[in-house]
Amino acid sequence: MYRSEVHYDYIARAVTELPCPVLANGNVYSAQKAHEVLGLTGARGLMIGRGVIRNPWLFHQIRQQRRGESIFLPTGHDVLKYLRALYETVRPPEIKEAAHVQKMKKYLNYIGLGIEPTGQFLHHIRRVTTEAEFFRLCDQYLNHDQPMPLEPFSLALKETDVMAGAQL
Ligand SMILES: Cc1cc2nc3c(=O)[nH]c(=O)nc-3n(C[C@H](O)[C@H](O)[C@H](O)COP(=O)(O)O)c2cc1C
Repeated sequence: MYRSEVHYDYIARAVTELPCPVLANGNVYSAQKAHEVLGLTGARGLMIGRGVIRNPWLFHQIRQQRRGESIFLPTGHDVLKYLRALYETVRPPEIKEAAHVQKMKKYLNYIGLGIEPTGQFLHHIRRVTTEAEFFRLCDQYLNHDQPMPLEPFSLALKETDVMAGAQL
């Protein structure tokens, strides 16, 4: 899964040949990429998977770009707040802490690609076992007010290499 390139030309064909509205998807990770994919395919809209797990502000950013506005970029503190909210939101009532930390690592497989370019964050997050360790590490990388594009640092980390265990 996710190993082949996205065939936007096939989506464009579906747009011209099908009588219904077609939505495009695959590797949309920024407002600019959304603009390009809509242009390439002529699709009516987009469905986005990994991109919005990594960057939940993405739909808002796409709308801002389409209105010609400047694009909101979250800060490290915003991303930290998102991770805390995600931790609570996807936590079933009875789950043990260690199991929930394991589950969060699957989300972090996506999110971590946009946090820093070396792979160190993902390397260390895969080794934590407690909630305290998990957030201590997140704090270490995200306790700042710098804007974060959250696009994958794909030169240092190949997205396909971290997908194997990433089924949620
Ligand atoms: C967490 C997650 C769950 C998914 N579940 C399904 C699924 O149940 N059925 C399906 O056809 N595709 C599923 N997909 C694939 C997406 O629909 C989409 O085709 C794929 O992620 C490529 O889009 P993306 O580059 O925006 O992630 C899933 C993707 C993710 C990230």
